[in-house]
Amino acid sequence: MSDVWSERVQAYRESATHATGDDLDLVVGWCEPGPDVTVLDVATGGGHVARRLREAGAQVVTVDAAPGMEPDVIAPADHLPFADASFDAVACRIAAHHFPDVLAAVREMARVARDRVVICDNTFTSESAEEADRIRDPSHVRNYGVAEWHSFFELAGLEVAAEASMLRDTDFEAWLDRTETPAGDRERVRELLDSRIHDGRLDLPTVVLKGTKAA
Ligand SMILES: C[S@@+](CC[C@H](N)C(=O)[O-])C[C@H]1O[C@@H](n2cnc3c(N)ncnc32)[C@H](O)[C@@H]1O
Repeated sequence: MSDVWSERVQAYRESATHATGDDLDLVVGWCEPGPDVTVLDVATGGGHVARRLREAGAQVVTVDAAPGMEPDVIAPADHLPFADASFDAVACRIAAHHFPDVLAAVREMARVARDRVVICDNTFTSESAEEADRIRDPSHVRNYGVAEWHSFFELAGLEVAAEASMLRDTDFEAWLDRTETPAGDRERVRELLDSRIHDGRLDLPTVVLKGTKAA
């Protein structure tokens, strides 16, 4: 992965879409944070999941592939440098669509979790939307449908214990600004996503899944 992410740290720390949201509340709640609970926040980015988990009393370790995000540990999601069952819970929010091998990453999260894995990500809507995502941000790999997420969980030995689909939204221009999409590409992205843009805001269909370690 190129280190384009390290240059984006401020944008992601300040992003309202990342700092708040029903999806964030759900990810934090489903990790079941508390004073004796340990959680690994994978692809922590601006650190919003970690911050909220710490506020709820959990002991949190952050990991991210980009040094500039200043995680506790620098590592890719598909090679987590932790022993089996090191954390009560593992969280990963709005990042899996960047992973080159998403199944390997889910397997790693399941391996280092003692009990539960909570993953939230944008969901697949169409091939033209995937094209728009790649033009906006060449580090985009793929969004997945809910059925694909179920198969990743099953292959990683996780039982889906809870699931919620929701519609997030984000300011469309701020979304392009975060990835510094060149002026010449913005109109093409807008055309491809036209049906999902309303009053300057882009709809982001999202799923949150909680998996527990299968017996
Ligand atoms: C949109 S940000 C994450 C947002 C954050 N989890 C939150 O809730 O605000 C995406 C993050 O994924 C990280 N990332 C991208 N590819 C990765 C990989 N293969 N392994 C680990 N982290 C990765 C990037 O460095 C970036 O910090």
